[in-house]
Amino acid sequence: MRTAIVAGNWKMNGNSESINELMGALVDNLQGLDAVETLVCPPAVYLSQVKGLIGDASVALGAQNASQFESGAFTGENAPGMLVDLGCQYVILGHSERRAIFGEKDADIAAKFAAAIEAGLTPILCVGETLEERESGNTMNVVGGQLKAVLDACGVESFAKAVIAYEPVWAIGTGKTATPEQAQEVHQAVRAIVAEYNAEVAAGVRILYGGSVNAANAAELFANADVDGGLVGGASLKANDFIAICRAAAEA
Ligand code: PGA
Repeated sequence: MRTAIVAGNWKMNGNSESINELMGALVDNLQGLDAVETLVCPPAVYLSQVKGLIGDASVALGAQNASQFESGAFTGENAPGMLVDLGCQYVILGHSERRAIFGEKDADIAAKFAAAIEAGLTPILCVGETLEERESGNTMNVVGGQLKAVLDACGVESFAKAVIAYEPVWAIGTGKTATPEQAQEVHQAVRAIVAEYNAEVAAGVRILYGGSVNAANAAELFANADVDGGLVGGASLKANDFIAICRAAAEA
């Protein structure tokens, strides 16, 4: 069976003080939730601080982005090996904000995915359609295209060491969540695409839902057969909400 994951994507939020407070509450309250892997993804400059605050608690550490390059003259970038050095196990790649605001293309994301795997990180590959794409009936063309770009470039075997996050762009930070039916429909279709390449990898890969997950809607989203947890933005900055979402995943 697939162990659920709840990942907190803090985006570009927080400071040393607020992070001390948030992590204190998470470390105290996430103990013993063995049925779910919990993960926090702070801004890169706070990774070391968060690693220290995690101590030996069972909360994993992830980054929000990584370079496709190993080292060298790439001002402002962080290499996957550096993230591993700081204690990261995961890295979010291809988030819609990276695609839309920073112009990342499928080929860039595939290169980052390959570099992350090579360094020993578990990529969380984000895919998702805009409202316009959904309303024009193109959800699976878009989501499938984003997924196949990485499957074709990196090979399906690499997905045995990766996580997929379905994040409809229209649901991110908007308070508008996909219905459980909408989420399950896309998650099932995503798994079917991976299965076209390798059925065993498809059965094992965790597919997270992201987009306005909160303490009130988490349980019904996670109850779906192909929803293996969540990638949580806004609600991951509030300790009580994030803890409630993690508990919902553990009980799903
Ligand atoms: P949200 O963000 O939960 O604030 O909608 C999710 C994400 O962007 O990963």
